[in-house]
Amino acid sequence: MNHYKLPEQRDFEHRIAGKNTHLITLENSRGVVVALSDFGARIVSLLVPDKYGTPTDVVLGFSHIQDYLTADEQYHGVTVGRFANRIANGRFTIDGETFYIEPNNGPNALHGGAAGFHKRVWDRRVVYKEKADFYYVAADGEEGFPGKLSVMVKYRLTDNNELVITYRAQTDKPTVINLTNHAYFNLNGEGNGDVLNHRLQIQATNYLPVDEFQIPAGVPAPVEDTPFDFRTPKLIGQDIRYADDQLAKGNGGYDHNYILDTEVLAKKLPVATAVSPTTGISLDVLTTEPGLQFYTGNFLSGKDVGKRGQPYGKHGAFCLETQHFPDSPNQPDFPTTLLMPGEVFQSETIYRFSIVK
Ligand code: BGC
Repeated sequence: MNHYKLPEQRDFEHRIAGKNTHLITLENSRGVVVALSDFGARIVSLLVPDKYGTPTDVVLGFSHIQDYLTADEQYHGVTVGRFANRIANGRFTIDGETFYIEPNNGPNALHGGAAGFHKRVWDRRVVYKEKADFYYVAADGEEGFPGKLSVMVKYRLTDNNELVITYRAQTDKPTVINLTNHAYFNLNGEGNGDVLNHRLQIQATNYLPVDEFQIPAGVPAPVEDTPFDFRTPKLIGQDIRYADDQLAKGNGGYDHNYILDTEVLAKKLPVATAVSPTTGISLDVLTTEPGLQFYTGNFLSGKDVGKRGQPYGKHGAFCLETQHFPDSPNQPDFPTTLLMPGEVFQSETIYRFSIVK
């Protein structure tokens, strides 16, 4: 199999909807390299030295921008918005007015609609090797959402091997917002089979069971005595094939939102940690968001072939998407996702890498 290498800049230079696209590279003093594209303000590659010092690409993706245009829509590495995750029936109401997002996932609107932020070419401002800021202005009514929304997503790579992602947004009319990153991680290295051998810990006592359309149904449920309990580290594969109604509803795996424990959030401690026993690469996730969608790539079909020519099959990666809870606009008991004119939406997530020997 080929070695991991960064995609070529020229293979990401293209024109989409009248705008030029680029590949932007950040690099720290410890050998971590991140490649980003302004198409979807997305992560394309993330090279992390493994326990032997060999650079290992820990995210799924493609080596040409064209592949992102023709691949199955899996949201590889993208910034998801205006509303990450599902909105039931694509409908919600603000101040008595109903808004409609065209369903693109069964009866639901998923990840901001068919032409959400992941399909847009963002403007960019880059500080050589260190940070890249992406800007996008979503029009009032775009994909059905109210309000002209100005959004900024900043990626910064620190010498502590942290990829810090900061979000900021303002609107001119009341709207709803939920932003996340949709990186597919495989800490064994992208294309190296499934992630079932990873050890995972999630700091959540409760999660949100879903209905048949993957909309949170009813009240949060304790993870205790269910396959959803990751409070003590366990292998992702340990319980994934358990005969469990919720795992079945996730299409044969995890695809659920965890309610992060508030004490852990308050102390700014990692809300989740994943470790590959093969590479020794460990990923800590830190966030200001209340929820975490843990998704085990259940819809990866093997149809898409990645950066080193390997097919991306079921469970070939996991996503740890920090966010507000799914369908919040329709669930009054959830923390609000309303954004009002004059307010500033702010959120931060850190992906931090280290080696466990
Ligand atoms: C969702 C999955 C969906 C995937 C699309 C995840 O955030 O929870 O259900 O299939 O995104 O890539």
